[in-house]
Amino acid sequence: MALRATTTAGEPDLLFLPWAVPLEAWPADLTVALPRGISRHTVGFVEVNERIYAVKETTEAAARREYDLLAELRRLGAPCVEPVGIVAGRQDADGEELAAALVTRHLPYSLPYRALVTPTLRLQTGERLLDALVVLLVRLHLFGFAWNDCSLSNALFLRDAGEFAAYLVDAETGELRPGLSDGQRRSDVETAALNVCGELLDLQAGGMIPEAFDVAVVGDELRMRYEHLWMTLTEPVSVTGDDRHQIHTLLRTLNGLGFDVGELSAEASPDGTSVHVRPQVVEPGHHRRRMMRLTGLEMHENQARRLLNDLDSYRAIHGGGADEQVVAHRWVHDTYEAVLARVPAELRRRIEDPELVHEVLQHRWFGSERAGRDVGLAWATDDYVDQYLRHAADEAILLVAEAATDALDAKPDEQA
Ligand SMILES: Nc1ncnc2c1ncn2[C@@H]1O[C@H](COP(=O)(O)OP(=O)(O)OP(=O)(O)O)[C@@H](O)[C@H]1O
Ligand SMILES: [Mg+2]
Repeated sequence: MALRATTTAGEPDLLFLPWAVPLEAWPADLTVALPRGISRHTVGFVEVNERIYAVKETTEAAARREYDLLAELRRLGAPCVEPVGIVAGRQDADGEELAAALVTRHLPYSLPYRALVTPTLRLQTGERLLDALVVLLVRLHLFGFAWNDCSLSNALFLRDAGEFAAYLVDAETGELRPGLSDGQRRSDVETAALNVCGELLDLQAGGMIPEAFDVAVVGDELRMRYEHLWMTLTEPVSVTGDDRHQIHTLLRTLNGLGFDVGELSAEASPDGTSVHVRPQVVEPGHHRRRMMRLTGLEMHENQARRLLNDLDSYRAIHGGGADEQVVAHRWVHDTYEAVLARVPAELRRRIEDPELVHEVLQHRWFGSERAGRDVGLAWATDDYVDQYLRHAADEAILLVAEAATDALDAKPDEQA
């Protein structure tokens, strides 16, 4: 049977990968050692034209289903990996049939949870990971996507202005519907809680989490946080009189979770003493889009929100009534690029650019608070580089040490 390949435009060279060889035996000069989660299928990373792709061996039907689901989810604006191709009809030199492959774009700077969980992990970081997963699940449910296999290993985590943002990586078991019933949502949350507890038990068995830590509590936390976020997003809120503070608190909670509230529909109660407020949630990503429109810079939502604060305050001081876009352009030159240009070249790629600029601006703020005066951008950059960046692990090419690779590569059944 002949090789059948479908790839999105722009990467024809993917067709020339050694498809007649099983993924496990691909030459080392083609593959990239990046951390990845536990998986049943063989998954590998390859570099083609300076771009990194994830290749997963599976059946043709499964590859196609997952490809279509991921494409549809991305079209809706859901945070998930980008599918780029399917390769089927593979045969080795002896004419033996080989598994089909799904190719996705490697999500830059993403880390599987196993690369984030270390014996020194702080409880707070663990909670942020869990929150990121809950936000992802709620977002997917709002789109009508039942994941059916939500787990830490089926998500990827990106640092986003000190928080984490979770992305869906494994959509194989999912279903997209016009909407989900409460029962469907609940069963998805149950699966998530069970999976996460199982993953934590694995980590505990491997000595990554203290013995004394009660893993079951995390399952309960997940259910509670999910329920809380879902209610906040979908239930009307009662506000008495002109208690605007309550509305502001609600908006801040939602914004903090990466949701933007487009409109509030208010409705007075029959006796006229209270107002019901139903936040109408619009597509997340407002700040990201505004940053893109003003500066052409691409970044995550929280990063954009923080950096836009800096841009807005820059505009207040240096704007002089000039057009927003013109001032934004100057800000990119005077701040964003100024920071990056000051960072020694060999350390530049350790942290994603917008995250680096965000960290420096935060460092400047803390430094200025301590000094009682503005310490300036140049000082803040140099001090940040010396104090933190030099000691940070390289997140762009986090080459896993051999021991860690073994742990990451281990199939679940071998681990038991
Ligand atoms: N596009 C990508 N970017 C970054 N990492 C990826 C990508 N695709 C896959 N991975 C990594 O490979 C791992 C396995 O992928 P995936 O979960 O799709 O495989 P699987 O075999 O279907 O898993 P399961 O055992 O849950 O069925 C993920 O946990 C992730 O770490
Ligand atoms: Mg998986």
